[in-house]
Amino acid sequence: MKHLIAPSLLSADFSKLAADIEMINNSEADWFHVDVMDGVFVPNISFGQPIIKHIKKHAKKPLDVHLMIIDPDRYVTDFKNAGADILTVHYEACTHLHRSIQAIKSSEMQAGVALTPHTPISVLEDIIADLDIVLLMSVNPGFGGQTFIENTYTKINRLKKLIIKTGSNALIEIDGGVTLKNASKIINEGTDVLVAGNTVFSAKNPIQTIAELKRN
Ligand code: DX5
Ligand code: ZN
Repeated sequence: MKHLIAPSLLSADFSKLAADIEMINNSEADWFHVDVMDGVFVPNISFGQPIIKHIKKHAKKPLDVHLMIIDPDRYVTDFKNAGADILTVHYEACTHLHRSIQAIKSSEMQAGVALTPHTPISVLEDIIADLDIVLLMSVNPGFGGQTFIENTYTKINRLKKLIIKTGSNALIEIDGGVTLKNASKIINEGTDVLVAGNTVFSAKNPIQTIAELKRN
């Protein structure tokens, strides 16, 4: 499968969100990556369902919603109603992860689990078969524009092996510090989806940058 590109709206200009969404609609990007932060699980607050509803009105590609919030089970239906197509929860924020994943799937969304940089791949052994996506954070969650953590390459390898061993269909998504320089190495290690915030939105020509990320 050719890898997918998911520009992160966290780095968009919120005062002209419709224009930035239109840019992504017109680009080779595959998904919209939408980061929800609660100021508790991560030291930053972004936006929630009301904004996502507006994003959905303009977006012509799937919404890949990454929840960096505690107790995400409370909001699964709300995010479905707001327009999420993929809903990813953090392993570190879920006491009963299996229940959370089942709730997402019952709401007819694709289900993802995200791991922070210090969480080992091995915690996924008994849930990997149920997942559509595993999102590996390659920076500490909370902010755009941080530097890629090199240990992520080893984690991609371990995750790929686990996916092959178990026959899981989960896609590997890498989130944080993706640049035009490191994208090809990240892809070659076995990544299926590249998230890119700062790299896309600080570029002089975001459409061309997305095309370059896709070309790797
Ligand atoms: C960080 C978010 C990322 C962020 C990535 O907590 O999950 O999606 O927007 O931004 P960049 O690509 O700038 O590192
Ligand atoms: Zn994210």
